[in-house]
Amino acid sequence: MGLGGLRFKGMTILRRWYNYLLRLYSPYLVPRYFALVPAAGSGSRFGNGTPKQYWTLGGKPLLYHALRELAAHRFIDQVFVVLAPDDAQFSSVASETLGGKIRPLFCGGQTRAASVHNGLLAVRDAVANDDWMLVHDAARPCLSAGALERLIHELAADEAGGLLAIPVADTLKRSDDQARVAATVHRDGLWQAQTPQMFRYSVLCAALDACGPAAVTDEAGAVEKLGLKPKLVMGEARNLKVTYPDDLELAALILENAWTSQERGAATGDKSQ
Ligand code: CTP
Ligand code: MG
Repeated sequence: MGLGGLRFKGMTILRRWYNYLLRLYSPYLVPRYFALVPAAGSGSRFGNGTPKQYWTLGGKPLLYHALRELAAHRFIDQVFVVLAPDDAQFSSVASETLGGKIRPLFCGGQTRAASVHNGLLAVRDAVANDDWMLVHDAARPCLSAGALERLIHELAADEAGGLLAIPVADTLKRSDDQARVAATVHRDGLWQAQTPQMFRYSVLCAALDACGPAAVTDEAGAVEKLGLKPKLVMGEARNLKVTYPDDLELAALILENAWTSQERGAATGDKSQ
């Protein structure tokens, strides 16, 4: 083999090695996106025995609707669903329309924060420190593709991460223990937190490691305690959390309306619906 042949062979071997190393380390070079959906609650305020994530909405469990937009997003690699260890209903959620991204984890804890924390620990071998983790309540079935896109887009280069939220529109009252007004709270600068909440995997782990499982009701609260300032990204009123039975009726109306608009959009060829 002449010099040219040797050089060609050397280049081929080098290129193969380069491709191999790139494949091996690319998850660590380019942050990936994952979602984690805590779905291990009992729905005590909703009542009725069955945990609210398994109540049906348009023929599908609430949890299915909460997973739909996350599973459909092109950037999100996998959607981890944290379930109670004795959950026996998750199979009712499985559906081809969710694609192959759903990964159930039977490691729910006593509180929402404990369920999220357990889920984060369970996926540590699959996720790198800089990867993004979008935590979304199983009880929010009406997340729109547009709001999800906005969250991902606005936070892609953010140091702290952030969350969907909406500015408070109503006047707020603080009550005394007799349910009488003790004070009027100015709504200026007040936002109502929603989910998804999007943070780097290592930030979320550090935040939830540092505070106890009962200390926070959302991830942003834990991240704030680290001294970071999560960004508020404009959410939507439709992204409500189902807490009481009335909320389910409202969620059904919202989804019906969204489906009708989509169908109308498809019929007229209007992609903006
Ligand atoms: N969650 C969880 N593990 C818990 C408690 C809550 O994974 N131990 C999840 C719920 O399944 C829900 C989300 O966290 O998707 C938000 O919690 P919430 O709306 O409070 O639901 P529940 O705790 O089920 O309801 P309740 O507080 O009325 O009992
Ligand atoms: Mg709860």
